[in-house]
Amino acid sequence: MDSPKKSHSQFTKFYYIFLLLSTNLLTLFISTTFNSSGCSLNFSGNTPTAIQDHVTQASSNLPSEFIAFTSPHELPFGFNTNFDSDKIVPPVGRPCTLFPDILRKYMTYKVNGSCPDDELLAQKLLLKGCEPLPRRRCRAAAPQDYVEPYPLPASFWSTPSDSSVVWTAYTCKNYTCLINRKRNQKGFDDCKDCFDLKGVEKSRWTKPTSGGGVDFSIDEVLAVKKPGTIRIGLDIGGGVATFAIRMQARNVTIVTTSMNLNGPFNNFIAARGVVPLYLSISQRLPFFDNTLDIVHSMHVMSNWIPTTLLHFMFFDIYRVLRPGGLFWLDHFFCVGEQLEEVYAPLIDSIGFTKVKWVVGRKLDRGPELKEMYLSALLEKPLKNSW
Ligand SMILES: *[C@@H]1O[C@H](CO)[C@@H](O)[C@H](O)[C@H]1NC(C)=O
Ligand SMILES: *[C@@H]1O[C@H](CO)[C@@H](O)[C@H](O)[C@H]1NC(C)=O
Ligand SMILES: *[C@@H]1O[C@H](CO)[C@@H](O)[C@H](O)[C@H]1NC(C)=O
Repeated sequence: MDSPKKSHSQFTKFYYIFLLLSTNLLTLFISTTFNSSGCSLNFSGNTPTAIQDHVTQASSNLPSEFIAFTSPHELPFGFNTNFDSDKIVPPVGRPCTLFPDILRKYMTYKVNGSCPDDELLAQKLLLKGCEPLPRRRCRAAAPQDYVEPYPLPASFWSTPSDSSVVWTAYTCKNYTCLINRKRNQKGFDDCKDCFDLKGVEKSRWTKPTSGGGVDFSIDEVLAVKKPGTIRIGLDIGGGVATFAIRMQARNVTIVTTSMNLNGPFNNFIAARGVVPLYLSISQRLPFFDNTLDIVHSMHVMSNWIPTTLLHFMFFDIYRVLRPGGLFWLDHFFCVGEQLEEVYAPLIDSIGFTKVKWVVGRKLDRGPELKEMYLSALLEKPLKNSW
């Protein structure tokens, strides 16, 4: 995963801080001085041209549509007690302005026109921490001859039409290529074999655990609670959402977060007929406290995530789970002593009750690497979870 480069000089840092400050002050000035409260929409942007030059000079690196969106916007009816303000300041990820070149590309488009076909650029910006991305006033790239999804329930296990996807961002240009890439394509790709619905996806989570292994089945997990009490939940980094499809068959509604890393994961999930959520692992989960019955995550939460971020993430999962809710940490992987020394104490500290805790060896890359899997079923305490 990309991370901001540490090579910025002190000068560059101060320059950005200066830019940020001057931009914010200027846009505040503009929005309070020149706010128009009429009903007409100004399609050429929010910023009056005389001032535009001023802004452009001071923040030559920040595109005008970015400023138009992120500036404080005066509420038409004045002070609003819910907002505790007379303005709305729309959110974007704080790191957005650290990457002015990518940001400028992303925010340069014709207002009320077609957006550039720039999914790859957008995702790069997002993964660098510009999350949420700024909204744009243009129409997102879409296939010229879009084909509607299969009707339910055929859509669950059918490969959608190639014409439902804009393929620009991916190495593969059709689903046949994605299905065959495990055999034909060298190199690593996230969820490389996932698009083949007749392959490993077909049987995931359906077989009962053999001999205390790390592969729990969905029915074993659901059997931990009273029938029907696991109804809604989240799958973090859920590939092509086979987990959600399996749960749907048990009347459980699951929302699946996924990026589009070299494949149209979000389109594919949606085409199957379950809900994709385009959200990175860094973003605060967009659910209220104590609401979800189950959170599942397989292969994603592991030792590649900085430990402090992982700590925040576990607490966020604890937060969104309702008391009595289940966290199924599926195939967490790490190496050798990391589990006893770092991760087990870290997970222990959150406050879950352990329902299942199975450690196994991960052998796919050879035993000498001493890689480990942990699968755990954790429950948020029903009482005193606060
Ligand atoms: C906005 O774009 C649509 C579709 O291209 C067009 O029909 C409409 O006239 C445009 N509106 C303005 C104000 O430019
Ligand atoms: C799919 O794309 C590959 C190249 O990625 C191409 O060789 C192949 O002909 C395409 N197949 C179909 C069915 O369009
Ligand atoms: C799911 O719900 C439907 C309709 O309420 C019901 O007929 C069906 O038995 C349920 N399936 C399961 C596996 O609970």
